[in-house]
Amino acid sequence: MTAAYEYETHVYDVVVVGAGGAGLRATLGMAEQGLRTACVTKVFPTRSHTVAAQGGIAASLSNMGPDNWQWHMYDTVKGSDWLGDTDAMEYLARSAPAAVYELEHYGVPFSRTEEGKIYQRPFGGHTTEFGEGPPVQRTCAAADRTGHAILHTLYGQSVKNNAEFYIEYFAIDLIMSEDGQCQGVVCWKLDDGTMHVFNAKMVVLATGGYGRAYFSATSAHTCTGDGGGMVARAGLGLQDMEFVQFHPTGIYGSGCLITEGARGEGGYLTNSEGERFMERYAPTYKDLAPRDYVSRSMTMEIREGRGVGEHGDHIHLNLSHLPAEALAERLPGISESAKIFAGVDVTKEPIPVLPTVHYNMGGIPTNYWGEVINPTADNKNAIVPGLMAVGEAGCASVHGANRLGSNSLIDLVVFGRAAAIRAGKVVDADAPNPVLNQASVDKAFDRFDRYRNASGATPTAELRLEMQRTMQADAAVFRTAETMKEGVEKMDAVAAKMDDIKVTDRSLIWNSDLMETLELTNLMPNALATIYGAEARKESRGAHAHEDFPERDDENWRVHTIAHLDGNKVALSYRDVIKDPLTTEDQGGISLKKIAPKARTF
Ligand code: FUM
Repeated sequence: MTAAYEYETHVYDVVVVGAGGAGLRATLGMAEQGLRTACVTKVFPTRSHTVAAQGGIAASLSNMGPDNWQWHMYDTVKGSDWLGDTDAMEYLARSAPAAVYELEHYGVPFSRTEEGKIYQRPFGGHTTEFGEGPPVQRTCAAADRTGHAILHTLYGQSVKNNAEFYIEYFAIDLIMSEDGQCQGVVCWKLDDGTMHVFNAKMVVLATGGYGRAYFSATSAHTCTGDGGGMVARAGLGLQDMEFVQFHPTGIYGSGCLITEGARGEGGYLTNSEGERFMERYAPTYKDLAPRDYVSRSMTMEIREGRGVGEHGDHIHLNLSHLPAEALAERLPGISESAKIFAGVDVTKEPIPVLPTVHYNMGGIPTNYWGEVINPTADNKNAIVPGLMAVGEAGCASVHGANRLGSNSLIDLVVFGRAAAIRAGKVVDADAPNPVLNQASVDKAFDRFDRYRNASGATPTAELRLEMQRTMQADAAVFRTAETMKEGVEKMDAVAAKMDDIKVTDRSLIWNSDLMETLELTNLMPNALATIYGAEARKESRGAHAHEDFPERDDENWRVHTIAHLDGNKVALSYRDVIKDPLTTEDQGGISLKKIAPKARTF
């Protein structure tokens, strides 16, 4: 029998789910074009996780020295360890300067140079001369609160353009037609317990990453992969989930982010011997090598007995040699975080840091317009009508196996904007909205009701912790065949316990027990796809460092992993990486020779 919930129906051209940087940029772009646009979000927009992005947004503005989009594209290709889609990476690097100037004109308060230009700092893996020259200052910053500045500006602009916000609405599931078209989303309003059905010609998932599948993450507690969970339940695939980024400098203990901008401004890492060990691992770029490189180097130092602290289990980040005024002007936020979370005065002492889960390169597969792809046997690039995904929830794929720092904020705005441009072309504002598939709506309420009344023996918090500890131990910076096999077996057992989940609060108003349970049902498919994809990939590439297969294997593994879930069962298939750029050299594009795969050294 179908669970009986009364609901209100809302009809829009576009519904964006999520109000972080990508969601807001998409919302704003849709509303600017006159599309009737709703943005549904489980947290207040300016509390979305983008608010925590610190160091900056990459774009080749050349404000601090020579730069161009081809160098940015090359660095992104190399950073991705040749797993990114070349068309999308060109689109990102080419569009980045215009997207940043657009933000400036919307009102983002960027830090300034003496001449009043947007200030840019160095970040890991961003170089000049196609990786042959010195590091470039490409990362545009608003002190170390860049995400905060962008989020507030985009929210203000969206409201100004009459986008409608549904705040503290939790998206339960997508509404899918019998023939696979997305028609909307079913939501639960957290503060009054009412139910809402959004009917839309286009749904844009901008729900962020799933960092909270791990025990220690820089991600907010809200980063529960809700988009990925809904997509998996709709029978669609998730892409490249095995690639999970560890940020080198999470504060030891709390996991709070210390921006890579700290190293960009001249900070450096040392081991227990006071050695600047990155000079050994990355002789050219040292502390400004990409994150996968630095995280592995730190882990190796700790493993070899040169970690710092009582247990020799972390590393020092030194900033005290930098002028106190520079720290106050450029890095005020992390100076405060270091004080609060590590009890450290950065002008005097090093910060204890450890590689911490920070970003999911994988996600919902899309083309570079944000349209969701569901690869089938006959068409590996088949588009799902009515559905887009942008930001960390999506996988365009510009980051491939490893994202460069500050390429996330630019991904949010470039692809949020691209989705709006595309929707302007494919959404007909004059056409009628779809007739909703009632069976799909009912199915969402049934699932909701099942968890609301779950009366098993395993509390949500207990099962979540078990999942987080398993992922932390078995899908870590370094992975072996043995740990990943164990991870698959353990995650199978953990996921099976969802049938025994216990929810104690049956109410509908501010029921955080139920909301966290629904979030866990989203984290679980993301975690399963991650560990299964990792176990299957018999090579090392970017953030996937497989100790039994230490080399990259382009012949067999330069492919995207696609994971489909049927309940807790994971089926893997593969899809070719897009190797052609959008433009050729004679059209002003990048030389194919320049971006051909080669050994990745720094
Ligand atoms: O280190 C940071 O400021 C983080 C930036 C990013 O992940 O892009």
